[in-house]
Amino acid sequence: MDWQEQYHSKHGAIQEAYHVFIHSGLDLFKNQNLHILEIGFGTGLNAFITLVESEKRNLKINYTGVEAFPVSGEELDQLNYPEELNSVLRKNDFNLMHSSLWQEDIEISSEFILRKEQKDFKDIDMIETVDLIYFDAFGARVQPELWTVEIFEIMFRAMKSGGYLVTYAAKGSVRRAMLEVGFIVERLPGPPGKREMLRARKK
Ligand SMILES: C[S@@+](CC[C@H](N)C(=O)[O-])C[C@H]1O[C@@H](n2cnc3c(N)ncnc32)[C@H](O)[C@@H]1O
Repeated sequence: MDWQEQYHSKHGAIQEAYHVFIHSGLDLFKNQNLHILEIGFGTGLNAFITLVESEKRNLKINYTGVEAFPVSGEELDQLNYPEELNSVLRKNDFNLMHSSLWQEDIEISSEFILRKEQKDFKDIDMIETVDLIYFDAFGARVQPELWTVEIFEIMFRAMKSGGYLVTYAAKGSVRRAMLEVGFIVERLPGPPGKREMLRARKK
């Protein structure tokens, strides 16, 4: 699939992912079992940094990564996240995340279960099971249909009470769609190069 869009902004994929998903999302949780839903598994960067960081926070993670168009082996070969993250020792884990089967629970480590679901975001039918959503769809400029009330309703339904959704987006229309489905929404400082980002909470 050619989206004419980069997987992450040019200001540094890893830096942005840490800011939005780890420091503004994962850091809200410590010492517990956590179910994370990722909207757009893509290259597996967010899943990988979550694996690396969850150990430091004593978290046990069930991670569901939804993706309709899995990244090809060729594209994956060009990535060197484990090296860039100084986690060469975890390279096997990164490879396992990608080679593992879809629609199955796979134990990447004793504390991290990955389930990759190959499906459209619109077909997510989880009900009150998720603590944290990483909303990492391509931007509204490219895929406006993913930043709508219809999609945020699916996110709201999937989330447990007290859960959070984080995204790099900050557009007013996105914030209003989140508010409309019942989320409480905060604007937070964005990653380098972006002024703001959004974090939504279900009461
Ligand atoms: C910004 S990328 C995700 C990047 C990813 N989180 C990472 O760490 O590499 C957005 C992803 O959403 C996927 N996607 C686009 N439309 C979709 C849809 N309707 N349903 C499911 N996946 C979709 C794309 O194939 C792409 O991999």
